[in-house]
Amino acid sequence: MPATCVFGAQWGDEGKGKIIDAMARDADVIVRYQGGANAGHTVIAGGAKHVLHLIPSGILHPGKLNVIGNGVAVDPLKFLEEVDGLRARGVRVDGTNLRLAGNAHVIFEHHKRIDQAGERWRGDGRIGTTGRGIGPCYADKASRTGLRVSDMLDPQRFRQRLQAALAEKNAQLTAVHGESALSLDEQLARYTGLGEKLRPFVGDTAAEVRRAFKDGRRVLFEGAQGAMLDIDHGTYPFVTSSNTGSDGVAAGAGFPAKWIQNVVGIAKAYCTRVGEGPFPSEDHGADGVRIREAGNEYGATTGRPRRCGWFDVLAMRYSLELNGADGWIMTNLDVLDGFEQIKVATSYEVGGRHHDEWPGALTNLADVKVRYESAPGWLADTTKVRRYADLPARARSYVEWIERLVGVPIVMLSVGPDRDQIVPRESTLGRATALSAGV
Ligand code: IMP
Repeated sequence: MPATCVFGAQWGDEGKGKIIDAMARDADVIVRYQGGANAGHTVIAGGAKHVLHLIPSGILHPGKLNVIGNGVAVDPLKFLEEVDGLRARGVRVDGTNLRLAGNAHVIFEHHKRIDQAGERWRGDGRIGTTGRGIGPCYADKASRTGLRVSDMLDPQRFRQRLQAALAEKNAQLTAVHGESALSLDEQLARYTGLGEKLRPFVGDTAAEVRRAFKDGRRVLFEGAQGAMLDIDHGTYPFVTSSNTGSDGVAAGAGFPAKWIQNVVGIAKAYCTRVGEGPFPSEDHGADGVRIREAGNEYGATTGRPRRCGWFDVLAMRYSLELNGADGWIMTNLDVLDGFEQIKVATSYEVGGRHHDEWPGALTNLADVKVRYESAPGWLADTTKVRRYADLPARARSYVEWIERLVGVPIVMLSVGPDRDQIVPRESTLGRATALSAGV
């Protein structure tokens, strides 16, 4: 895998953390390129559970270089908290194995306050954000009023820039949202000393990653959220504020798109979504509840119950094509172990028109009528299976049926949260290149 991008192919929460942890064994450099602490990548290693929000999942492997690229919205308090948490659990973290882009934008308290106030302001039209300040931080980046990590390294410059930012944000908080203003002194006290703590990690990460690649090191780009939450290609406005797939790598890591040789999507054997917005194959009945309980579908970042439903072939074909996926990994197959019948969304009807492809141009996906096909369940425990041939015949039929419908090879399956609960697979659709992932 000289340069591989792994991305979420649904609405986030596809189990990327665990897969990236497995693939990181074969990589030298692991890079986050977008999103921020809205993500929550759960990795269970050696019986310990690690939930990483900002730091790449590769940090759990000794000897790897982990990079937070310029496209990430960095909450410095969360970053340092995560560093401390990892160290407390015995993981080595320092400026040699963790790098932070000096030109990444910083999330401050005012971004979080405005994120949350904005949600209240939108009322029924709220997005259901994680409240982590992601959207307001990216908005400031685009407005060219944001502060970057490197600004925190110079206390005088930092003071000036934070003061200017707060003057505007306090006007917005008080006049528009009717909230109390933030005190400049308090905010300076909270953030000023952090620059020195960040300094050992900070550098020109884009140049560092390109140099590593040119030196023959294997680079793994770790997407956060999912393709259907992409700011440009997702279900706007119910999306996050970054380009979540392979489309985000070039800008968010300073790595030329044509250097990426492998793109791998991750998707669950069913679908979930947190927050508001279209989710055509959502199951509002008993099956949705069963999936939630069987899959423990509660947010790693916010604890919110996830909306649950069936695998959506149209959304999947769309997201894999959009991001140029060579192959994909199906996660949480075991969650369907107890289902007698498994449904799959195979076409839509909108305003009397039939759709076999994701109707991207439609603004009102709430009116979509979903046509399902179904397959009999396997009603057996798959969590101990490690070889594809050992899966129950009906589970293999389900996997191969979905693969044919989607038209992109499934190169691996995941059958539980643990590191080793992985089933590698040679696809009959052809082998996606260099997806050894150490298994
Ligand atoms: P934001 O990224 O906090 O602005 O939230 C925007 C939308 O993206 C909301 O629907 C969130 O629930 C969703 N979202 C953000 N991060 C994640 C994630 O890591 N997994 C799943 N959904 C997410």
